[in-house]
Amino acid sequence: MDSHGRVIDYLRISITDRCNERCLYCMPEGYKGWAQKADHLTAGEVIRVARAAAGLGFRKFRLTGGEPTIRTDLLQIVRGISSFEEAEMLALSTNGTRLKELAAPLRDAGVSSLNISLDALNPTLYRKVTGGDVAAVLGGIEAALSAGFARLKLNCVLMRGVNEDEIWPLILFASEREIPVRFIELMPLSNADVLSEKNFLSVEEVIARLARRDEVVPLESATLGWGPARYYRLKNTGATVGFIGAITTPDFCASCNKIRLTADGKIRPCLGRHNELDLLSALRSGEGGVEEILHEAIALKPIDHEFSGCYEPDRPMTAIGG
Ligand code: GTP
Ligand code: 5AD
Ligand code: SF4
Repeated sequence: MDSHGRVIDYLRISITDRCNERCLYCMPEGYKGWAQKADHLTAGEVIRVARAAAGLGFRKFRLTGGEPTIRTDLLQIVRGISSFEEAEMLALSTNGTRLKELAAPLRDAGVSSLNISLDALNPTLYRKVTGGDVAAVLGGIEAALSAGFARLKLNCVLMRGVNEDEIWPLILFASEREIPVRFIELMPLSNADVLSEKNFLSVEEVIARLARRDEVVPLESATLGWGPARYYRLKNTGATVGFIGAITTPDFCASCNKIRLTADGKIRPCLGRHNELDLLSALRSGEGGVEEILHEAIALKPIDHEFSGCYEPDRPMTAIGG
């Protein structure tokens, strides 16, 4: 329990700050990755931190990046964490580009659910937003569907004037495959132009637009994941749609249940505040103290984020892990 009465049992683990795409809202232009290989936690170190967290009551683990699938020892990390009895779920957030090859091995190694980013179906727009090839992601989604994950969800970051027209096609695409799609408010976690006010689109506005096309019914069940999304059913379409209103939802942080581990061994109590604790030294000094730092991070969790103030990222989203 943190000092605001929230149960913290979810560890988000970024295993690299590198990525094979270049999303407008995540990766500053020219960014190559700050971490040298030696700065990245090894697979063994990641597993050690996760084990310490499991001992403290953490039950949900999510691997993120950058893009987690570019790490060659990803399956080793997955096998290590999924072997803990305490790990009720091990999920992965990915851009989907490498899932054609990796979906089945990830499932076999113990990943229970996947969140796949898809900001546009239109190939030209997809390339503009991510620098990548949408066909690779679509192939990855089909491979993930065939691999039999317990849960699969799509993520789309909302950008006014950029991908607004993709919202409805994405809903139909997801609904045809019977998977939920979530729309995420743009957070100031890069220094790219797209993060300006004029590109911000609130979840409230999107819900109002959807309500003109279909009946939007809130879902009571919180079983679609462990993160902050709120879910709705579109009654006539049959689609399940989630919203992550990180900026405008008033009580967004009230149910926060997580801390973050960065690829260079820092623990971040909140995505939207700069404070970080150094875990790398404790890991590498051989003197212990990992549990104490995890405890301290829980105790330091703030009541909410600072996005609505003058928050400017010290390091970009790709280096924090989303
Ligand atoms: P599940 O609900 O278990 O599927 O996980 P999730 O939605 O937390 O995971 P995912 O990696 O798909 O994250 C989706 C979006 O939610 C990303 O943009 C995250 O940055 C954002 N997000 C997740 N947790 C938090 C949080 O605690 N605070 C903020 N501000 N954003 C978050
Ligand atoms: N604002 C909101 N969501 C973001 N993501 C990455 N950067 C941002 C941002 N600045 C999302 C990705 C992915 C998830 C892990 O985080 O699109 O779906
Ligand atoms: Fe890469 Fe994901 Fe960041 Fe896009 S959001 S640049 S796919 S890490």
